[in-house]
Order: sequence, then structure tokens, then C-alpha cells
Amino acid sequence: MALIHGGQLQKVAAAFNIPESNWLDLSTGIAPYSYPIPDIPTSLWQQLPQPNEQLTIAAQHYYQAQQLLVTNGSQAVIKALPSLWRQQCSVNSIVYLPLHGYKEHQQAWVNAGYTVAHYHEQLPELAQLTPHCVLVVINPNNPTGKLFNRDELTDYQLKIDKLGGLLVLDEAFMDVITPTQSLSSTLTAQSTLILRSFGKFFGLAGIRIGFVVANQHWLKLLNETLGPWQVNGPAQYIAQHALQNISWQQQQQSNLINDSQQLGKLLFECFAHDSTISIKGTTLFQTVTFSSNTVAPLIYQALCQRGIYVRLTDNQQALRFGIPCPEQLPRLGQTLKKILKSCR
Ligand SMILES: Cc1ncc(COP(=O)(O)O)c(C=O)c1O
Repeated sequence: MALIHGGQLQKVAAAFNIPESNWLDLSTGIAPYSYPIPDIPTSLWQQLPQPNEQLTIAAQHYYQAQQLLVTNGSQAVIKALPSLWRQQCSVNSIVYLPLHGYKEHQQAWVNAGYTVAHYHEQLPELAQLTPHCVLVVINPNNPTGKLFNRDELTDYQLKIDKLGGLLVLDEAFMDVITPTQSLSSTLTAQSTLILRSFGKFFGLAGIRIGFVVANQHWLKLLNETLGPWQVNGPAQYIAQHALQNISWQQQQQSNLINDSQQLGKLLFECFAHDSTISIKGTTLFQTVTFSSNTVAPLIYQALCQRGIYVRLTDNQQALRFGIPCPEQLPRLGQTLKKILKSCR
């Protein structure tokens, strides 16, 4: 069954009968500013994609990792992993997953017949982990924003290595965390895979490119499974330039920090009167969590009726707001305040 994600504006616009061009779409955690597309040599459109050494070097530098593989986004790897793990380990592993988090992980493991155990805010105790288990950590979490630090995750790496298990670190939103808590520069374990999404921080989710950091055994396995021509040549070219462009990255960081602070301030003004409501996130999204699952759907509907699309979480208890540009913020603020006034 296809899962619901943000970014389905076409469908939502049709459901609320508002033309797509009239919407303020804050339904994803994709940066509102995208890396400017450079002039792409015609040959890259004409030829089949070839490995791009310059891209690999740029990615090794950006992610501070020597061993990585270019993929067409983390999603492809998430889907491929359970059957690859089945080939590596014939025992029926328990898969530990965050209760709240990008649900494609869960769907992939459940579809492959694995037994899933959820953890809440904290990782399962080290002593609780079972032989050959799989632990999936979305760091920082989407949508909760929960961040685990490197030291804690290093302990899990070592333990899972000893247990003959697999640690999957999904660092889709790690680019905006300073100081970084990524394990990509210090990956030592045999059994850790780190997924890095390109599209979110660089605002180019549509070009479908991402990276996996892992040991050579896993990279070879993934490369063979995903097959040739994974990533089109123009996407490789754009990513190469974006990963090399440090001054653009610094500007992007600074814009996102500023805009997410403005959003945080607005959400605080709107919701701080109620101490049961929490506001957490990263500089790519802010999530407002309510104490029950009755309020968020009402606000979601009211926002949609006014052409503002945010993400209502699967448990219906929270609204995740993507980062609006400064010129979009007043529309969000006025609309949200009007809705909340009419609710009181
Ligand atoms: C936590 C998380 N991981 C992975 C993905 C997939 O990203 P990609 O565009 O790299 O396939 C998403 C997409 O929203 C996500 O939220």
C-alpha cells in the first residue's frame, strides 16, 4: 500500500478545489531555496550515465567519508535493504524502528516479513538488543526532530557489530545539524549503513540523488542490486557542483537558520498558551505536537481550506511545517491566527 507523505499537492489541491498555483506548500522538509542549476553539457543528456569521479570526490569531501556509493536517493536503498539483509542473514531478525518517523522504513521491513519492535523517544537498551537484530535510527528524526549524539550511536555500532546485526542510520536531515552528529566520518563498524539524502538541504528532491556510506562489502552488494544507470548524468553533474560549492552551502545554512527561527517564533506565539503543546524540529521543518489527536486534523483541514498545505502526521497528533521564505510567512501567520481565534 502506498504511504501518505507530504508533497502531494496535486491531490490535495484537487480535493480542496483550489488551483495548485494558489497554494502555500509547506508539506515537506525540503529547503525552500534550491541550488541553482548550472549549464549542463548536452552530452550528459545524450549519453547513458557514467560513473563521475569528480562527483565521488566532492561527496567524499562533503560527507567526510571515503567509502560511499551514489544512489538515486535513500528511498531506493530503504526498499532494497530487507531482501539484501535476508541474503546476508538467514535468521529472522527483529527490526527495531522508531514509533514515529519516516514510515517507508517500516513498510519495507514488514513487507519482507520481518518482525518489527518499536522504540519511542529513546533507543532500545543496549542489553535488550537481540542477536542479528536490525536497528533503524532516523537521525535527526522526521517529524519529531529527536537527535541522538555520535557517542551514543557509537556504542550501538559496536554492540550491533558484536551481535552480527545491522545498524541503519538515516541521516536525511543531518546537513542542517551543527555541530554534526553524523557518523559518516568515523564509520568503523562492518554492519552500519548511513543514508544521506541530497534533495532536502540542496532543495532539489526532484533530481533523485543520494549517497550511502558503508564498508566495501555493502557498497558492492548495493551497487549490484541497484544495477547500472541508477543516477542520471545531469543529476550527477548538478550534485557535483552543489557539493563543491561551499559558499552556497554556508548561505543556505544561514538562510535556513534565520527562516526556521522566524517560523519557530510564529508557532510559539500561536501555541505557547498551551503547555501541553510541544514545538520541535530542525532548520528544515518544525513540528507542533498536541496532547490528543483531535486538534491537529481540525487545524490541518482549516489550513487546507485556505490553501495552506502542511503535513498532518500519521498518528494525527502533530502538524509538521516546512520552512516558509520570509515573503510567505505573513500569509501563514495571519491564517493560522485567524483559525486559532475561531477555535477558541
Ligand atoms: C527520514 C527520511 N529518509 C529518507 C527519505 C527519502 O529521501 P530521498 O529523497 O533521499 O529518497 C525521506 C523523504 O522524505 C525522509 O524523510
